[in-house]
Amino acid sequence: MNIEARLALFPSSTRIIADRLFIGGCDIEQLAEEYGTPLYVYDRAELDRAASLYRRALTETWPGAWSVTYAGKAFLNPVIARWAAAQGFRVDCTGAGEIGIAVYAGLSPAQILVHGVNKTKEDLQSALRHAGIIVVDNLSELRKIACLVKESKTLPDLWLRFQPGLAVQTHHAATQTGHEGSKFGMNETQIIEAASFCREHGLRLCGIHFHQGSQFRDPAPLQPAIEKALDLAQEIGWKGEWHFSPGGGWGVAYHEDDLPQPDIWEYVRAVTDWTRQACRQRRMELPHLHLEPGRSLVARAGVAIYQVGTIKHIGGRTWLLVDGGMADNPRKALYGARYSCLPVTRLTGEATQTVSIAGPYCESGDILIEEITLPALQEGERIAIPVSGAYQLSMASHYNGARRPAVLMLENGRAHPMLSRETIDDFIRQMHA
Ligand code: LLP
Repeated sequence: MNIEARLALFPSSTRIIADRLFIGGCDIEQLAEEYGTPLYVYDRAELDRAASLYRRALTETWPGAWSVTYAGKAFLNPVIARWAAAQGFRVDCTGAGEIGIAVYAGLSPAQILVHGVNKTKEDLQSALRHAGIIVVDNLSELRKIACLVKESKTLPDLWLRFQPGLAVQTHHAATQTGHEGSKFGMNETQIIEAASFCREHGLRLCGIHFHQGSQFRDPAPLQPAIEKALDLAQEIGWKGEWHFSPGGGWGVAYHEDDLPQPDIWEYVRAVTDWTRQACRQRRMELPHLHLEPGRSLVARAGVAIYQVGTIKHIGGRTWLLVDGGMADNPRKALYGARYSCLPVTRLTGEATQTVSIAGPYCESGDILIEEITLPALQEGERIAIPVSGAYQLSMASHYNGARRPAVLMLENGRAHPMLSRETIDDFIRQMHA
């Protein structure tokens, strides 16, 4: 077991002190005792570090105006929404539910952007009331917006979502979105039709957006997509300020075999270089450039803590059965995602066993880690799975009556609750007897 390599997946503040894991100055074993497990912790310093990498890279490589929108689908609650706003970022909300969280957190319309492939009337009404930007996915949605703005007092900025017909290489086909055959966005003809519709109906069209997929580490396919999007922008013929968003999707390393971490600077520089070149070739003014990262902002800041309940040997395998799994982290079951982990105590013990780590749920796919070498753990000891900050809790379920874990923000040796552990009462409250 290469502890150093595994530690490189954890937040930068992670330390081993007296053979115990500390994150953000907090003793993880103590927090697990106090708050129970499964427990999710976020390291504030790591969140800030990722945010400042984006800010620095954009400042250094893009001569014009830029902004960052945090893709709230990765993990959203009021504390995280306010954290994003404090970084000067917008929050991308998918539908009325996420808009509701951002509004509850106190965000203003200028801080909210709305996405969604099938926005309901409720989603659109909420977006018109609370968001500064709506990214329009399709022509049907645009017609609905045209009707609704007549009743609403606000006229949001509209961007059009383009389907470039080009995929990025992701960990799983389910997280590719820009290819032909995807359900997202509009093709060239539809974008041009949407632009004319906006002109005819006095809608404020001011941007073009695409998002090719999530968890990629080779930016190359962005270049032809940027070119195609700028051709369309040229055809639409914006005068003065216009907005361009090549989405998000930059990846992170989940396992020590995926190291080094994909470099945020390399990604931003590729986007800004290619956008600048494409504008120069077309003699276009530089757009206001937007990036929309989710995972690369929050994944590494989050760590999931579980307790080993049962150790079981069967069929030549040793199973560490822990108290969480696919109900709080369905990513292995959905995408075959490969995670790593460290024990929370007795960290530096010799790694003598290869184990599989699985959860308590009634499905064979409820596995967190297929095979990993660890020091011999005992029942009652705890493990920490790094890179757990994105698309885990936001995709959590109540399978087998699972209650959602508590979530803490760790900062300078203090733990601030972000979410209480869900209780049985919480989820049966909506049920009718
Ligand atoms: N913008 C749009 C329009 C998106 O659909 C997404 C992610 C993002 C930005 C942010 O992508 P990110 O920077 O976080 O990769 N559940 C999957 C990921 C689904 C991504 C959905 N859209 C997973 O766990 O890998």
